[in-house]
Amino acid sequence: MSSFVEVSQDGHVSTLTINRPDKLNALSQEVLGDLGAAIEEVERNDAVRALVLTGTGKAFVAGADIAAMKSMNQAEGRGFGALGHTVFTRLEHLRFPVIAAVNGFALGGGCELALACDFVYASSKAKFGQPEVNLGIIPGFGGTQRLPRRVGSAMARELIYSGKMINAAEALRIGLINAVFEPEELLGAAQKIAADIATKGPLAVGEAKRLIRDGVDIPLPQANKLERDAFGAGFDTEDQAEGMAAFLEKRAPVFKGA
Ligand code: COA
Repeated sequence: MSSFVEVSQDGHVSTLTINRPDKLNALSQEVLGDLGAAIEEVERNDAVRALVLTGTGKAFVAGADIAAMKSMNQAEGRGFGALGHTVFTRLEHLRFPVIAAVNGFALGGGCELALACDFVYASSKAKFGQPEVNLGIIPGFGGTQRLPRRVGSAMARELIYSGKMINAAEALRIGLINAVFEPEELLGAAQKIAADIATKGPLAVGEAKRLIRDGVDIPLPQANKLERDAFGAGFDTEDQAEGMAAFLEKRAPVFKGA
């Protein structure tokens, strides 16, 4: 695999580690390309049922690469934003949940990357923020759109307009993240919840993910119709037969994802 993103697997859980610690895992075009390739790799792997995303060193990701962006013109900036959108959207559309294990700075593109994950666990040392206005630009990898959807419009406005950094406790308070762990416990905790999720019906988890993701942007009656259709379709699966039989037979289910 690539040099900037490591892929590892334990049972049904894959872990992607962004590995450019000398630049605080800043997202250059190359790093984004490697991340996209790693996402494709886990997508193709039928054994994967949950993914953990983390970073090496003191940062999760300290943002898009400022040195690389410095000389960009309008068209190049737009193209770079489009690359970020493409890679993060691909992550968001994986058929299984993605848990961000935010080990340190999650700034700019790093905060946006965490927002493209299903939910976020963080180290007590983590710091979050959208500092782009300090550089005279706006968030360009989804921050103006996913942050208000996650924490509400008022909080997102304050964070984006001020460019301020918040700690893990504050991120938890506003609902940006789900839980805070001691640094040495973070990765294990994220991999444990991922492994728990991987024991559930994979088609059901994947459908729930799709409905939560796609339902939020459409009117409720339409979203409820999506849910009804997916709920019905679930009764045509081997996993439904197995899950309900196992319950009635008082044994643990063995799901095949079929
Ligand atoms: N892009 C490119 N390089 C970055 C970077 C980024 N977003 N964030 C950090 N780096 C580089 C630094 O330039 C430095 O490189 P150098 O050793 O060659 O000088 C290296 O990573 C270490 O960063 P440094 O600033 O020395 O670490 P620090 O602990 O003093 O500060 C931060 C940490 C996160 C507060 C600081 O690096 C920072 O503010 N980064 C930019 C955050 C940002 O604005 N992100 C949004 C970008 S749109």
